[in-house]
Amino acid sequence: MAKGLHLSLSLVLVSVIAVTFRAENVSGSPSNFIKSSCSTTTFPNVCVESLSVYANTIQQDPHELVQTALTLSLNRSQSTRAFVTKCNKFRGLKPREYAALKDCAEEISDSCDRLSKSLKELKLCKVKGDDFRWHISNVETWVSSALTDDSTCGDGFAGNALNGKMKDSIRARMVNLAQVTSNALSLITHYASQY
Ligand SMILES: *[C@@H]1O[C@H](CO)[C@@H](O)[C@H](O)[C@H]1NC(C)=O
Ligand SMILES: *[C@@H]1O[C@H](CO)[C@@H](O)[C@H](O)[C@H]1NC(C)=O
Repeated sequence: MAKGLHLSLSLVLVSVIAVTFRAENVSGSPSNFIKSSCSTTTFPNVCVESLSVYANTIQQDPHELVQTALTLSLNRSQSTRAFVTKCNKFRGLKPREYAALKDCAEEISDSCDRLSKSLKELKLCKVKGDDFRWHISNVETWVSSALTDDSTCGDGFAGNALNGKMKDSIRARMVNLAQVTSNALSLITHYASQY
């Protein structure tokens, strides 16, 4: 009796494992596509976490993948710009704090413009014709400049006595923005190299 129960429990366990395994369909799932694509980026965990939410859109389409990564970078860039602009309205800022925040907001604005221009250009890369190389290399150049703008903004606070809490929140956002943008650039470069 006890032996029979043990056996049927084992059978249940085996079939549960088998079903789980089949349901995952390891080789051909969007989630695996995202994981393996992200493994070529500098911040693979951030990449997987931020893009997995969009697995339904991305499926296993390399173009959708880079387009989503770039859209995400633009979105983060816009919300960071809004945050920094809000900080700059804070009363009691010292003149140099005000100046550093103002510079930062301008640099992120430039970064937003470049990312938004890149996103339009990337849409032209859907057709893998003669122009593909030209468009994709523009995208690479502009995203790379956006990344430089972001790091310039971070530098502005390095030696500055900006109030601790505000400085930390801005820095955290800037780090995340730089990681997401750097990942988008890696994915774009990889995409470009495949055609
Ligand atoms: C796994 O997914 C691929 C692509 O989505 C599909 O072609 C294949 O039939 C699936 N295999 C199984 C065992 O479900
Ligand atoms: C970007 O922002 C738009 C508008 O808020 C939103 O609809 C979209 O889902 C976001 N996409 C990504 C990839 O973050």
